[in-house]
Amino acid sequence: MSIRAWFPTLIYDAPLAKDGAKPLSKQLLVECHQLRDMDDEGRAWSAQRYPNGYTSYGSFDQMHRMSSTFMELRGHLDRHVRSFARSLEYDTTDRPLAMTDCWVNIMPRGCAHTLHVHPTSTISGTYYVKTPKRASCIKFEDPRLDSFMAAPPRKSDPGPRNRTFVEYAAEAGKVVLFESWLRHEVPISRIDAERVSISFNYGWF
Ligand code: NI
Repeated sequence: MSIRAWFPTLIYDAPLAKDGAKPLSKQLLVECHQLRDMDDEGRAWSAQRYPNGYTSYGSFDQMHRMSSTFMELRGHLDRHVRSFARSLEYDTTDRPLAMTDCWVNIMPRGCAHTLHVHPTSTISGTYYVKTPKRASCIKFEDPRLDSFMAAPPRKSDPGPRNRTFVEYAAEAGKVVLFESWLRHEVPISRIDAERVSISFNYGWF
């Protein structure tokens, strides 16, 4: 008898660079704050759709085309995405994956990002710029959840492969990648200090 696991859901995480990329992160943090300060449209957008926080998703979502600092970040991310795509065994010979969107998120107390996917993209992810102690994690949901139908509930502490949700701690200097269809959320922040991250999408078309 054998029971084997098939159809895995892969999530990638790694330090952005071997040397820690601290000077890059420092400059990114400065520019994230500058962007929030000057982005009236984005702050208004966030007030409606990202309560208590700031995101440039509705205003400046092409930061990799606007700032040489973000271009440098993209250079690192390209390498991680290529590595993840190899693990996923995507055949992208003719149309390589390229960054399509890149935006800033600043989460203070009371800010949350409810469950969502990134439609029209292939690989999505986040780079963590500043993560105070007890900063909210990123939480992924089992993509088969809506197919479980009459399955009984899980035991209260199931093994790793039978969990309904998986949490990755937000750690400054770390990049997390996942396939864009994988539903995820950032639980509400319960600390005053701001959690700063940069999210992005890659596509192959
Ligand atoms: Ni997301």
